[in-house]
Amino acid sequence: MGLWGKRDDMTVHERDPFNAEPPRSALADAHLTPVDTFYSRNHGSVPAADPARWRLEVDGLVDHPLTLTLDDLRTRWKPTDVEVTLECAGNRRTGLTEVRDIPGETPWGPGAISTGRFHGVRLADVLADARPRPGAAHVAFAAPDVSPLARPPQPYGGSVPLAKALAPEVLLAWSMNGAPLPRVHGAPLRAVVPGWIGARSVKWLTRVTVRGTPSDNYFQAVAYRLPPTGTDPVTAALDGGGLPLGPLTLNCAILRPDDGARLPCGPTPVTGYALAGQGRTVARVDVSHDSGGTWRRADVSAAAGPWVWQQWRTTLDLPHGDVEIVARAWDSAGTVMPESPGRLWNPKGYTNTSWPRTRVRCG
Ligand code: MTE
Repeated sequence: MGLWGKRDDMTVHERDPFNAEPPRSALADAHLTPVDTFYSRNHGSVPAADPARWRLEVDGLVDHPLTLTLDDLRTRWKPTDVEVTLECAGNRRTGLTEVRDIPGETPWGPGAISTGRFHGVRLADVLADARPRPGAAHVAFAAPDVSPLARPPQPYGGSVPLAKALAPEVLLAWSMNGAPLPRVHGAPLRAVVPGWIGARSVKWLTRVTVRGTPSDNYFQAVAYRLPPTGTDPVTAALDGGGLPLGPLTLNCAILRPDDGARLPCGPTPVTGYALAGQGRTVARVDVSHDSGGTWRRADVSAAAGPWVWQQWRTTLDLPHGDVEIVARAWDSAGTVMPESPGRLWNPKGYTNTSWPRTRVRCG
C-alpha cells in the first residue's frame, strides 16, 4: 500500500502537500472509484482532527449561529447519499503544458477526477436552522490546513453562491463509499459541492460562514480563477480581474489504450470517461484513430445521475505505425468540446476541456 492508503501505482506528484492521481487504466470501467484509487489534491499538510473535540461553527449573516458536534450533525438532520464525480480544475493540465510551459503547477494527467458516494446532511438543512439574514449571498467554507503556497500563507478556504449552497445535492459529508471519510479526504467532515470544481469541496471543514460577498481566501480570490489573457495571474486576480471558476464544464479523457503504448494492429478496445457538468448528461462521444480525419461513435453508459461521469467504449481498427487516437464529446445541450488546447491555454493551466489525444505505436 502506498502513501495515505493509496494503491502503489498512483502517480505521486508531491508527497507533502500530498498530490496523487491513479493510472488511467485504474479509472477505466469503474463507475465508483475505490478509495485507494481516488485522486487527492492538497495545498498544505494533511491535518489531524480529534473527532471528539472537533466542532463545526455556522456563523456570519445568520440569526441563529450554530456550534455543532459530529453527533449533532448525525442526529439533527436526515442524512442522505449523493454520487458525485469530483474533478480538479487542473485535471488534464499536461494537455496545456504541451502548448506552453506552466511553471509551479502540478502536472495532472487525466486522473485528477474520481467518483464517490458521499453520505452526510444537506447544507441547506443546516442553513435553514441557522436562518440566513437579508443580504446573505455567499457561503464560505474554512479549514485548518495552512497552505505555504498561498500569498500570504493561510488556511485553505473557498465559497459558493448561496443559491448553490441551498441546492439539495450539496452535502456536509462524513462518509465516502460506505466507510468513514479517510483523513486525506477531509475527515471528520468535508463539503461536497457536486458539479463544481473540486476546489470548492473544502475538506477538514470547521466553519461555514454566510456572507454578502465571496470568500476572500486566497484559493477563492486569487487561485482557481481564469486570469485575463496576457496578464500575471496573481496581480490580475488581486485587481479583481479574471473569472472565478465554479461550475464544471464538459470534459472527457481516453483511458485505454495507455498513452505511449505499443500494440498489435487491428481491432482494439478504446475506453474512457466523459463528464457533462452543469447538471447535463453526455449525449455522444466520437473517437478517431487518425487524428480526427474519420470518426466512430462510441457507446456511452447511461447517466447514473446529473453529477457523475459516464463511461464510453468502442473498438477501433488500428493501422500499422504511429497512431493518434482522438475523442470528442457532446453534452445534452449540444455543446461540443473545443478541439485545440492552444485556445484554452491559461497561465495557471485550468479547465483543459480540449479533445484528448493518445499516441500509440501499432505493429
Ligand atoms: N480542502 C482543503 N481544506 N484543503 C485543500 O487543499 N483541495 C481542494 C478540495 N478541498 C483542498 C480542499 C481541491 S483543489 C480539490 S480538487 C479537492 O479538495 C480534492 O479532493 P480529494 O483530495 O478528496 O480528492
